[in-house]
Amino acid sequence: MFEQIERVPGDAILGLIDAFKKDTNPNKVDLGVGVYRDASGNTPVLESVKIAEERLLSSETTKSYIGSHGDPAYGSAVLSLVLGETSPVLEANRASLTQSPGGTGALRLAADFIKANLPGKAIWLSAPTWPNHLGIFDAAGVERKSYPYVSADNTLDFDGMVETFETIPEGDIVLLHACCHNPSGFDLSKAQWQQVLEIISRRNLLPLIDFAYQGFGDGLDDDAYGVRLLAESLDEVIITSSCSKNFGIYRERTGALILIAKDQEQMENVRSQAAITARENYSNPPAHGGAIVSTILNDNALRVQWLGEVDEMRQRINSLRRNFVKAMAPYGLEERFRFIEQQRGMFSFTGLTPEQVDRLRDEFSIYMVRSGRANVAGLSHDVLDYVAKAIATVVK
Ligand code: LMR
Repeated sequence: MFEQIERVPGDAILGLIDAFKKDTNPNKVDLGVGVYRDASGNTPVLESVKIAEERLLSSETTKSYIGSHGDPAYGSAVLSLVLGETSPVLEANRASLTQSPGGTGALRLAADFIKANLPGKAIWLSAPTWPNHLGIFDAAGVERKSYPYVSADNTLDFDGMVETFETIPEGDIVLLHACCHNPSGFDLSKAQWQQVLEIISRRNLLPLIDFAYQGFGDGLDDDAYGVRLLAESLDEVIITSSCSKNFGIYRERTGALILIAKDQEQMENVRSQAAITARENYSNPPAHGGAIVSTILNDNALRVQWLGEVDEMRQRINSLRRNFVKAMAPYGLEERFRFIEQQRGMFSFTGLTPEQVDRLRDEFSIYMVRSGRANVAGLSHDVLDYVAKAIATVVK
């Protein structure tokens, strides 16, 4: 029976990992998959994570299941991190958290939850968005539509976005990136978040906020501005959160689906549905990553150490952004790439065409997604000049 099954192309982002590994050029540079790298090009295990793991190793007494919603200590720590320690939403007991296998797992839970409980409602994704959003909602059978987000001249198309929001049918879901928009790096200002809130509220839309990069834009609290604004102002909000990047625990698959309802009663109803969705997908989430996160967040000294490590990662990315623009100066391209300083998070839409990206790979062993998305965190001060020269060559 398998003879009728066709081979499909692999995932465009994850495929870059293999292609990069195979490349024997000693000067190769990986600006592909979204992982943070330090000055030596490593994706380090954070010190706070190492200490938490040592503690867990000596104190863990069981490997039994943790339940479909995951570890309650993780749940309350992440709710405070995402919504704020003194959030009125937490005070009112209207937020439910389900620990998930990464942010991707949280998105799949959200998609299945929507399919099962909000029949006939479509999800509206930014154009462009993280390509896996498309696959996740397709796989769950949720109808998918799109709203403009980046203009042809590679700037944020906020007017196009809100114009489309005015046409979205009541009850449909809009997926927003909380911060560090993947793939573009263009984020909404506080004033723009206020406008988005006004439209969503007036038109009775349901926001699903993907929060995968908390701490990588302007800081843990600043990055949560839109999330907290919508959570505190609206009756219903869905949030998918990830600890992959800010704790650097990518392979531990640690995320959360947060469902905010009008009151505690409705929260308990949607929470019961989330448990069923998790049960049918994978039963219980993996425990280790969540245990690391709750160990860190529930210990003052470790938390302070971790906050410092997040700041360091963010500052490094922002300094790479500034230095990349400077490195383009000798080629007269500083102004053309000035926008890279304003973008936020790991990613930048560089404005390079797929053909230019191919040339960077073939002629210089520099890898990035064909959409022109570069992982700025993959740069290092040592390779800036090499990358700048290569980009100047392919854009001339
Ligand atoms: C990315 O966009 O590169 C990351 O979110 C990793 C992934 O799973 O695609």
